[in-house]
Amino acid sequence: MDFTLTEEQIMIRDAARDFANNVLKPGVIERDEKQVFPHEEVKQMGELGFLGMMVDPKYGGGGMDTVSYVLAMEEISKIDASASVVMSVNNSLVCWGLETYGTEEQKQKYLVPLAEGKIIGAFALSEPEAGSDATKQRTTAVDKGDHYIVNGTKNWITNGGTASVYLVIAHTHPEKGHHGINAFIVEKDMEGFVVGTKENKLGIRGSDTHSLMFNDVKVPKENRIGDDGFGFTFAMKTLAGGRIGIASQALGIASGAYDLALQYSKERKAFGKEISRHQAIAFKLADMATEIEAARMLCLKAAWDKDQHNNFDLSGAMAKLYAAEMAMRVTVEAVQIHGGYGYVKEYHVERLMRDAKITQIYEGTSEIQQIVISRAILRD
Ligand code: CAA
Repeated sequence: MDFTLTEEQIMIRDAARDFANNVLKPGVIERDEKQVFPHEEVKQMGELGFLGMMVDPKYGGGGMDTVSYVLAMEEISKIDASASVVMSVNNSLVCWGLETYGTEEQKQKYLVPLAEGKIIGAFALSEPEAGSDATKQRTTAVDKGDHYIVNGTKNWITNGGTASVYLVIAHTHPEKGHHGINAFIVEKDMEGFVVGTKENKLGIRGSDTHSLMFNDVKVPKENRIGDDGFGFTFAMKTLAGGRIGIASQALGIASGAYDLALQYSKERKAFGKEISRHQAIAFKLADMATEIEAARMLCLKAAWDKDQHNNFDLSGAMAKLYAAEMAMRVTVEAVQIHGGYGYVKEYHVERLMRDAKITQIYEGTSEIQQIVISRAILRD
């Protein structure tokens, strides 16, 4: 087994690290406090190729592997998880979904500008009454021959206000259960489409989370993704890949908090020596480093599975479950190691702790990952 990264993977990781430190870090506390979306920073991410990393260059992407994506996601998330969720949704859910299942026309029209980072996309599945139980969509898409009429409401949509293109999941044949669901490409300026309230969140406050309303939105038939009734499978497949992105986000949040705690513990003195030389702190650091490395291995394994065209449903869910739970534990300890300083904004760790929480919730809660994993292992 060869754990060595290629020169290209190292180059991408280092470029992401430099970008995060030089461009994202300076304004991250203020964006979090004021809930400001990182418009200029995301534009630069697009120019550097971070928004369509794995897309084939013929569709404007970087043609990189999923391992490189995990490495870049970790680096960006160490500094700014609000920026990295934009990257994760655009790469894993929107670009991957379109590249894998879209028609050539859909790819030319939507994937190319998304992969080039000229526009960003959103993935609209969750509803007020359908989050974990994704089959219970109330949004409807009625077939009118050459178009569909879409009605309904979506909740907690990442990039909700800033996206130009939305992949929307809706029921066409409710009587067929999940076999009656379709996925559609909806443009922001389609008549009847309204971006609703922006959420005031605990964490990832620089990201842009909105409800969306569809009032008799006319969506051309050519904007349906896949055959009639393919929407639920589309959502499941896409989310399975998305979980690798969010697992890497959790990994990055944890490793960012650990780096800060390690550095602080070597500088801060108490009871006559650096606190890192007290076992109470040293043992915490040992556990944090071990758990982060375990999560990194799970993320890279899931990425490798995807790159090898192996099934990645199980390894992606394991990576997401473990990394999210680990990120919560590690960030709480990072605040604890900082003591009183950890509780104030200038030291970054309180933000990382708040940001970690969402990784246990979105793209399937930890309990959803446990369902996916337990079903897979019990099936075998
Ligand atoms: N790939 C392909 N097909 C899949 C699949 C997968 N990974 N998982 C399930 N399916 C298929 C099944 O094969 C089945 O199809 P058939 O009936 O044809 O055999 C169908 O989907 C239904 O499967 P289940 O009976 O297993 O479905 P379920 O109702 O029990 O639910 C679930 C399964 C895993 C719990 C699923 O509902 C789920 O993943 N829920 C969580 C949804 C989620 O992640 N929401 C997050 C919102 S998006 C987001 O957060 C983005 C963001 O903003 C960052």
